[in-house]
This record gives sequence, structure tokens and C-alpha cells, in this order.
Amino acid sequence: MNLAELNKVAEAMVAPGRGILAADESTSTIKKRFDAIGVESTPFTRRDYRELLFRSTEAMTKHISGVILYDETIRQNAKDGTPLVKLISEAGSLPGIKVDKGTKPLPFCPGEVVTEGLDGLRERLKEYRGLGARFAKWRAVIDIAPGGVPSYACIRANAHALGRYAALCQDEGIVPIVEPEVLMDGDHDIERCYQVTEMMLKIQFEELYFQRVALEGMVLKPNMVVPGKKSGKRASVEEIADKTVRVLKACVPAAVPGIAFLSGGQSDEEATAHLDAINKIGDLPWHVTFSYGRALQAPVQKAWSGKAENVALAQRAFAHRAAMNSLASRGAWQAELERKAA
Ligand code: 13P
Repeated sequence: MNLAELNKVAEAMVAPGRGILAADESTSTIKKRFDAIGVESTPFTRRDYRELLFRSTEAMTKHISGVILYDETIRQNAKDGTPLVKLISEAGSLPGIKVDKGTKPLPFCPGEVVTEGLDGLRERLKEYRGLGARFAKWRAVIDIAPGGVPSYACIRANAHALGRYAALCQDEGIVPIVEPEVLMDGDHDIERCYQVTEMMLKIQFEELYFQRVALEGMVLKPNMVVPGKKSGKRASVEEIADKTVRVLKACVPAAVPGIAFLSGGQSDEEATAHLDAINKIGDLPWHVTFSYGRALQAPVQKAWSGKAENVALAQRAFAHRAAMNSLASRGAWQAELERKAA
């Protein structure tokens, strides 16, 4: 393992003012997003949409450090024959790849899932590296529900798989994004989210230690500490920022170069406001930025709506969201900037 090289890539992924575009929606997930804007999902429409994103010079060159791709996309060419991966690197951004194979029900743990994809992973990583990937992503999904969910078995199994994945990535010269996502879908309060996130992260870093993962060569992609969507309760931006920083400080060693949050179903502006408030607290031992999927792309998809004549408009929407999140990653965002742009 060349740790100096891994560390250089990890640092670049969380460089000041930059964050990651999660464009790794599986074919079924991107279909859902396209359904919502009335666009048929075909290899060509998916290619056109992602080409639009990666050719957004303003957003890509100034604010996006890396792009997480899906297997289909890393192999696709733009309309003019240029590999999509090349568009990303030419914009000064790093190509990455989602390598997990999604979730399956976890035996004897009703309602819970474990992320699969370890079999053959080393070979797939070798191939992806050849195709240009410099980092990878694996997402574990932890639900919160009444009746003992999450179970210890679920947390342990998912943390173990993430540890195995991270070690394999580093052995193949690829920086792992370790994503243990505690979902915000339930009816739990913010305290419960705090407790589950704390347990997940404590066990996650224990597994990473046992699997001999070098923390200097990885990026953590956690959830923020928020009340469940169905709880009917709201928490202030300050409370979410305070609790998120508290749990991360309690669980994430300073050797980790950076933390890049998932948006997890927060609205675009909420995800930006929370990231900003977290960075306004300041004095954090890691770079703290975004690795957003929905919160970066929702306005872009809406503006595009599958029409070639809307490409420039959609690229402007992407540039705006990326710029807002870039400011938030430095704790320099203000709500007025959103209204000015509207
Ligand atoms: P969201 O920001 O839409 O949660 O997606 C991020 C991601 O990569 C989930 O794995």
C-alpha cells in the first residue's frame, strides 16, 4: 500500500471549498429520479444527463473535487466519443466508483439489511482502477425503528463489510469512502439518531482498526444527526450542527483527512445550511464537506427535464448549488445568497 499516495487523493477529495458529487445512482434509482421529471430512462438519456453534469465547467472546475460514478457510467462515452471519465479528469476532478452491490435482508433481523459485494471485489477494483477510478464508495444502511432496530447484529455485520471493503480498496491503491448511513426515515427523535450514529461510528472505527485500514487514506461519509422525518419534530440548524459535531468528535479520529456528508433526503437548502453551521462551529480536526446526491442534483434534474434546450439552464442550477455548498464547506454561506439567486 502506498499510503502517501492514498493520503494525497483523500486530501484532494476534501480540499478546502470543494466537495464530492454523488452521481452513482443505480439504474433503478436514476429511473425513479427520471420518472419524477417525465424522462424515460435509457442508456442514452442517462448518458446525456451525466454528460451535462460533467461538462458543467463552472461547477466542476471550481467546486467539485470528485464524482462518484455507477458501473454503467464509468464505461460510457460522451456523445462525441470522449470517455465520461476523461471529462471529469479534464475538469480537474477525480473519478470515483460505487462498488457495493446493494442491500439484502439480514437473516433473523426482520426489517434490516446488510450491504453485499465483497465477493470478487479485488478483481473489480483492479478493473475500475484501470478505467480511471481513484476512489470508491460502499454504503451501509442502518434503519431506526421500534422493536430493537437497529440490532447489534445489523450494525456489526455492516461495519465489518465496510472494513473489509476499505482494506481491499487501500490494497489496490484506491481511497475508500466509508459510508455507514443511519437513515432519517423513521419517527425517532434527534437523541435517538445521536445514539445510533454514535454506536455505528464507534463500531465502524473498531472494525477499520481490526482490518488494518489506514485512516489517513480514507474519507468518512456519515449522516448528520437529525430527527426522523416521520417524527413530526423539527430541530434548529444550530442543534443539528451541535449534535453532529459532538458525535463526530467523540467517534472519528483526527487521523481521518476528511468527512463528506451524505444529504440523505434533506432539502437542498437544509443540507447546505447544516453543512455551513457545522463549519461555522470551527476548530474541527478534519476537513468537513459535502458528498451530496439528491441535494446537489434535484434542481439540475428539474431544470433539465430531458430537453437539450435546457442544458445551459440546468448547468447554471448545478453551478449555483455547488457554489452554495462550497461556501458552506468553509462556513461562509448566508441564506441571503439563495434568495438573491432565486
Ligand atoms: P444523497 O446525498 O442523495 O443521500 O446521496 C448520497 C449518496 O451517495 C448515498 O449513498
